[in-house]
Amino acid sequence: MTKSTNEFEITPEDLNNSLEKNEPMFLFDLRLQDMYKEGHIDGSVHAVCDTRTKDTLMPKIPKNVKLVLIDEDGKMSAETVAMMRSFGLDAYYLKGGMKNWTNELVKGSLPAAISPEELSKKLQDPNVYLLDVRDPDEFSDYNIPGSINIPLSEIFDPESISKIPQNKEIVTICPHSNMATIATFALARNGIKSRILKDGLAGWSQVLNAVNAEENPKVIQVEKIGKGCLSHVIISKNDAIVIDPLYPAEKYLEVVKQECAKITHIIDTHQHADHVSSAQQLSNLTGAPMYESNLEEWDRTANFLDDGQEVAFGNSKLRVIHTPGHTPGSLSYVVDEKYVFTGDILFIESIGRPDLRDKAEEFAAQLYDSLHNKLLKLPPNTVVFPTHHGESVTSTKGVFSTTIEKTKQHEILNLPKEEFVQRVVDVTVPRPMNYQKIIQINKGSIPLVASDVPDLELGPNRCSIAGV
Ligand SMILES: [Fe+2]
Repeated sequence: MTKSTNEFEITPEDLNNSLEKNEPMFLFDLRLQDMYKEGHIDGSVHAVCDTRTKDTLMPKIPKNVKLVLIDEDGKMSAETVAMMRSFGLDAYYLKGGMKNWTNELVKGSLPAAISPEELSKKLQDPNVYLLDVRDPDEFSDYNIPGSINIPLSEIFDPESISKIPQNKEIVTICPHSNMATIATFALARNGIKSRILKDGLAGWSQVLNAVNAEENPKVIQVEKIGKGCLSHVIISKNDAIVIDPLYPAEKYLEVVKQECAKITHIIDTHQHADHVSSAQQLSNLTGAPMYESNLEEWDRTANFLDDGQEVAFGNSKLRVIHTPGHTPGSLSYVVDEKYVFTGDILFIESIGRPDLRDKAEEFAAQLYDSLHNKLLKLPPNTVVFPTHHGESVTSTKGVFSTTIEKTKQHEILNLPKEEFVQRVVDVTVPRPMNYQKIIQINKGSIPLVASDVPDLELGPNRCSIAGV
């Protein structure tokens, strides 16, 4: 026999007393959003009880904190309590729902939010306190630099609360802002004001920031700051080449408009595994042709580039070098013998990982040859623009670049070939999240669904060999 849910009801008087005593609890208001907006119990969070909530949010709700569900008449909430209890949650519902509630109500809707773009401009602001409320293992896997982790299960813990500086601008963070919303309401019940990061880490992973990197020909570096992915727009006269465009493609239209330039070529260095290339979308938007490596397999139509080929644009020239090792068809591009765009082969602090296609040893040997016989043979003052940067790398005035001369100091680049291969093969780095699906999209094998991109790209970039 299932237990009657009556024993999990809470009277308005008892709820009011608990609230006055500031007892730890999460309040979820399940009514329609308009009704919630018109008036709700202070501290309650508007919640939608649908399959997505059940599948994604429910497992994340702490089991050590009491939950109280509120609806209009106590009927649906009683059923939901039974379901939540089957997940091991300490759930209760307001007896008779809001019809029975005679105490004060507050008006309003969602908590205040900060957009990912606004936050990106405030990252260095010492008055901003980033509070990530995910579980510690999720936090240690990937986080916004400078953020502090207090899991939602500890949000009522006096010791945790005491760590939160009340004189700072607090931003609560989670994957999609659901848990952050709960945290913001919970903090408000402790007298702490905070704002949620709108669209959470998924939104954060989509912010693109453009910085002028070089002049003559001009290079504008466009960074996906949540992932450390880098793309480049090179402008010569009024022609613009975009290398490794990131999603969403519209950003590049903005960049070239400001420069009064026209996109003439869209080029990828290789089939990316950790982020979605927007080459196809940018090509659709601009009519500019798309160029891909002829040494990789594609299910889309494009122009294909081979080793030694040259592409003229404006007054400039882009020269193709085949640099396998990260992927078999990886290409690097030398522009006007001044800059080299190295994709995921040579980074500022590291080198690319060769193991995404399960042939680590063979790829590591190719990587060695690409680095030593091709890239490191370029003039020492050639400016290197990779497609990623690691978390530990600092920019110079917002630009992530280095020179061939400086990269020669990477310890791994001073090893003999055999040792190099062994070292590279021995390093195991977790693979990028969703990498197989991302490869399929970039290859053109499955269509890109725009709304899927933030979730697909959530997480760090993992194309380099960290610590090497
Ligand atoms: Fe890559």
